[in-house]
Amino acid sequence: MPAPPPDARSLTAEVVSVEPCGEDGVVLTVRPEVELPTVRASRFFMLRRTDRLSPLIPRPFSLYRQRGAELEFLLKVMGRGTRALAESRPGDELRLIGPLGNGWPALEGGGAPWVMLGGGVGSAPFYLGIQQALAGMDGKRPARREELAYLYGAARRGLLYDLERFRALGVPVHTATDDGSEGFKGNVLGLLETLWSANKLPREVRLLACGPHPMLVAVERLARAKKLECWLSLETLMGCGVGICNGCPVATRPEGPMGAWPNAKCCVEGPVFAVGAVTLEQPGEQHGSPRHAPAACVPEAPHEPERGRAGN
Ligand SMILES: Cc1cc2nc3c(=O)[nH]c(=O)nc-3n(C[C@H](O)[C@H](O)[C@H](O)COP(=O)(O)OP(=O)(O)OC[C@H]3O[C@@H](n4cnc5c(N)ncnc54)[C@H](O)[C@@H]3O)c2cc1C
Ligand code: FES
Repeated sequence: MPAPPPDARSLTAEVVSVEPCGEDGVVLTVRPEVELPTVRASRFFMLRRTDRLSPLIPRPFSLYRQRGAELEFLLKVMGRGTRALAESRPGDELRLIGPLGNGWPALEGGGAPWVMLGGGVGSAPFYLGIQQALAGMDGKRPARREELAYLYGAARRGLLYDLERFRALGVPVHTATDDGSEGFKGNVLGLLETLWSANKLPREVRLLACGPHPMLVAVERLARAKKLECWLSLETLMGCGVGICNGCPVATRPEGPMGAWPNAKCCVEGPVFAVGAVTLEQPGEQHGSPRHAPAACVPEAPHEPERGRAGN
C-alpha cells in the first residue's frame, strides 16, 4: 500500500506573519524548527495550531512559497481550521506535518507549452510551479517564459489572490472573472477557448489545473475530449494526510495505470493525478468530490476485472 513520503516529518513552526490577501484570505508565513530542502511545487503540509484553538484534525494546505527557512501558505478562510490559522499571531506555535504528496510532474521546457489553470485559492501550487519550471526540475531542461501561461479565474477580482505577485514572475498571466471585474468575463476554460481562437496559444498544450471541483471536472472533460496531457491537483477532504484514515478517496479509471483498485488515496498517491489515471466524473458524484468523501476507515475491495466499471 502507498506510504507517506520518506521526507515527511512532524515539525513545530513559529508564525512569522499573517498578511491579509484578497477578500477572504491570508498569506501565513512560518519558520519551521529546521530549514527544509526545496519542496516540490504542489506538495502540501497538514497544519494546525498547538494551542487547541484549531480543530484536533489538522488541515491540508499546498506550499505557496518557500524563501530560505520560511514557508508561506495562501489560505482562504472557510471554517474553524482556516479561521484559527488566519487569526494566529507572530510568535504563535503551529504543528506541521509534511512535506506530503507527490507534486507536479517535471515541468520541462522544449515540448508543448504548459498551461496552468488556477481557480480561486487553487492558485497556491502554481507560484512555486512557475518558479521551479523556470529553474528546471529533476535535471530537465528549464522552461522558457513563453513556454508557460498562467490562466487565473475567480468569481470576482477580490478573489484573485496575490495577482501582482504572479505577474511579477514574468510569465504570461491571463485573468477571468465570472462578473467581468478583472480580465475575461467568464471562467478559465472560456478564457482558454478565447486564447486558442485568437491564436495566442497553440492547440497542443499540456494542462495543469487546481481549483474548485466543478472546474476540475470541466478540465478533465476538455482534456479527454481534445486528447491533451493534463494533471489535476485535487483538494479532497483529508483526515490524516498520511494514508491511514481512508478519508481522501479519488475514483480511479479501471483502464488506467491505477485501475486495479477502485480508489486512490489523494494524500499519498496525489494530490496530483494524471487525467487518465483517475476520474472526477462519477454518476451521482460518489467519489473524488471533496463533499462526497466516504466515511473514514471503510476498507475497500480491489476492482474485480470481470465487473469493472464500464465506459467512464
Ligand atoms: C492537498 C490540498 C491542498 C490544499 N491547499 C489549500 C491551499 O493552499 N489554500 C487553501 O485555502 N486551502 C487549501 N486546501 C483546502 C483546505 O484544506 C480546506 O479549505 C480546509 O481544510 C478547510 O478547513 P476549515 O476547518 O477552515 O473548514 P471546515 O470547517 O472543515 O469546512 C468549512 C467548509 O469548507 C468546505 N471544505 C472543506 N475542505 C474543503 C475542500 N478541500 N474543498 C472544498 N471545500 C472544502 C466544507 O465542506 C465546509 O462547507 C487544500 C486541500 C488539500 C487536500
Ligand atoms: S487523508 Fe487519511 S488516508 Fe488520505
